Amino acid sequence: MRLSLRRTLVLYNITQQKDIMILLRRNRILRQSLAIRSLVAETILRPSDFIAPLFIDEGENIAFEIPSMPGYYRYSIDNTIKEAKDLWSLGIKSVLLFVKAKDETKDNTGKEAWNPDGLMQRSIKAIKDACPEMLVMTDVALDPYSSYGHDGIVENGEIVNDPTVEALVKMSLSHAQAGADFVAPSDMMDGRIGAIREALEQNNFTHTGIMAYSAKYASCFYGPFRDALDSAPGFGDKKTYQMDYANRTEAIKETLMDIEEGADIVMVKPAMAYLDIIREVKNAVDVPVSAYHVSGEYAMIKASAKMGWINEEKAVIESLTSIKRAGADLIATYFAKDAVKLIV
Ligand code: PBG
Repeated sequence: MRLSLRRTLVLYNITQQKDIMILLRRNRILRQSLAIRSLVAETILRPSDFIAPLFIDEGENIAFEIPSMPGYYRYSIDNTIKEAKDLWSLGIKSVLLFVKAKDETKDNTGKEAWNPDGLMQRSIKAIKDACPEMLVMTDVALDPYSSYGHDGIVENGEIVNDPTVEALVKMSLSHAQAGADFVAPSDMMDGRIGAIREALEQNNFTHTGIMAYSAKYASCFYGPFRDALDSAPGFGDKKTYQMDYANRTEAIKETLMDIEEGADIVMVKPAMAYLDIIREVKNAVDVPVSAYHVSGEYAMIKASAKMGWINEEKAVIESLTSIKRAGADLIATYFAKDAVKLIV
């Protein structure tokens, strides 16, 4: 700012007989009414900014409210279809699918993940049949299918990288085969984006996109999600594959490598405690950046609103606007539907 514009003059005004300030710039002019504020707003949320995560279970006509995510449900496929149509009618153009695998299908190979008749594969087909224009993205990680609740194959207490990548490749191909528009690897194994991209090419899935969870941190904010899918790790934690939240430059390294390996969209996760990372990634890349406003972030707003300590609607819009302002082009959020109703 030039000094001349900042100088504050205090003069004596003869008619009013008092000191007045002459300011050459009054920043509050641009804040004085709703009209001017909306004219100069830099960040505007749109329905098509959002990716709506969907939790899917077996059965019929099931809508199970997730205890730690009040107002959010795990649906059977029939109800998932209704939800997808509802989302589309509201202007939400993308869903991200997660399934709750039956206990008896879980093992250490995760093989249910690429069962052509598995719940995920049936869900993809059902949504694409009912709502063909909806962009269907699928979570790719072994945790819902792992008897250990880890995102990879376990050998001697270690989550082994390369055999896990092989499994993730099979899983991605089976999602593409079922009709997924994008696969979204959320596992943080090394080299998985390149391996998945090559396999998609080799199998002629040249239209399938990859949204890479590139900077995914080992975070306590995933707690409610693991309730939703019954996928909490059976031993230890995820710190040998998900990132340490103390780190910033590592996020750039991970993201640039994923882009080099073929990611179409990169993601930072969680969102609110990582706005600095979203911005740095946004400045470093030339692909769209998404952010995942995760289950714990949803739960915190819901819980404090329930206590009457915070205004839920205002907290939702302020949070999502901050995430977009930080640099997210897309936001995966459990508030997608609520937000769209609030912004119209
Ligand atoms: C699976 C996965 C997780 C989330 C998305 N995909 C859980 C985890 O990594 O433990 C978290 C989403 C949320 O908390 O909303 N790998």
